[in-house]
Amino acid sequence: MSVVIHTQDLTKRFQIAPGLFRRSARYVNAVDRVSLDIREGEIVGLIGESGSGKTTLARVLLGLTPATEGVAQVNGRDIVSVRRAELRKMREDVAVVFQDPAANLNPRQTVESSIIRPLVIRGMKKAEARRKAAEALEKVKLDASYLRAYPHQLSGGQQQRIAIARAMVLDPRIMILDEPTSALDISVQAQVLNLLLDLQEEYHLTYLVITHDINVIRYIADRIAVMYMGRLVEIGAADDVLEHPIHPYTINLEQFVPALDPNRRSDKRRSALTEEKTLASQRPDACILCESCPYAVDRCAHARPELTEYTPGHFAACNRRVNEDDSSK
Ligand SMILES: Nc1ncnc2c1ncn2[C@@H]1O[C@H](COP(=O)(O)OP(=O)(O)O)[C@@H](O)[C@H]1O
Ligand SMILES: [Mg+2]
Repeated sequence: MSVVIHTQDLTKRFQIAPGLFRRSARYVNAVDRVSLDIREGEIVGLIGESGSGKTTLARVLLGLTPATEGVAQVNGRDIVSVRRAELRKMREDVAVVFQDPAANLNPRQTVESSIIRPLVIRGMKKAEARRKAAEALEKVKLDASYLRAYPHQLSGGQQQRIAIARAMVLDPRIMILDEPTSALDISVQAQVLNLLLDLQEEYHLTYLVITHDINVIRYIADRIAVMYMGRLVEIGAADDVLEHPIHPYTINLEQFVPALDPNRRSDKRRSALTEEKTLASQRPDACILCESCPYAVDRCAHARPELTEYTPGHFAACNRRVNEDDSSK
């Protein structure tokens, strides 16, 4: 199956004000040499704690944030060097749904106006755009009467359905869903996830689903990518990663579950993360976990582990496993 999203050593570095971090790092690698291939028709779940760079990766792939270094291609188009006009074309192939309904929908516009806007901008006649909007609502199983509603008149679940309808209206091939259900009640989450699964199957879409919620990943993903401090530490088939995790971070992911949710994160974990992030940016040649990992070996402090294939399609970036497998040397 063809690769629709391809990144190689993709990096996004942000300048930060000195003094903000204790060691006063001047920049942070929000996305740190990420190499990732997403194939047509698959659902890749990207999981990581808040602050691990998930949204930044999505924004780079959407052409909303320029990359610092590396390769990023969507449908074979290079988006790191692309020109504005081409970027616009590319955006027709890739739709996005954000966590925050306010980021998806204009509060001052009716649902219909929000949905038809991208169509009208592309030169579609209003009557035709309206027909498409009604169709899009049908796709997300909402009554056409919602077209006249304003976002504040809708429940969180309905707002996300509308956001999905808006994403679908340009007939995208790829959808990036950034914490699509994180703002919703548990009972509504499953409905929205089921809707996403139905749409994916019916329209043969490719999804990159970003979340800090391991239950969402379990429910929806064909493959799982684990991100930590801007780096991809493990990727593989969902069952392999969940049942046979390789990287110490993934093995302990359950332990970090409260920390995955920014609202439930402890102060201790928060400051540990800040320390590690600073370290990661300052020491690009070390493993990010070199100071906190119970399995760390000497080389972790000076050799950055690369993603290595352990079983077919299952990759992890850990020096210790490399050492174990190399024990004959
Ligand atoms: N515009 C920005 N300027 C400076 N730092 C940023 C900016 N956007 C994100 N960051 C930093 O990049 C890191 C990753 O953030 P983000 O991509 O939002 O993570 P996630 O989506 O996983 O929670 C964080 O340390 C964040 O503070
Ligand atoms: Mg985010």
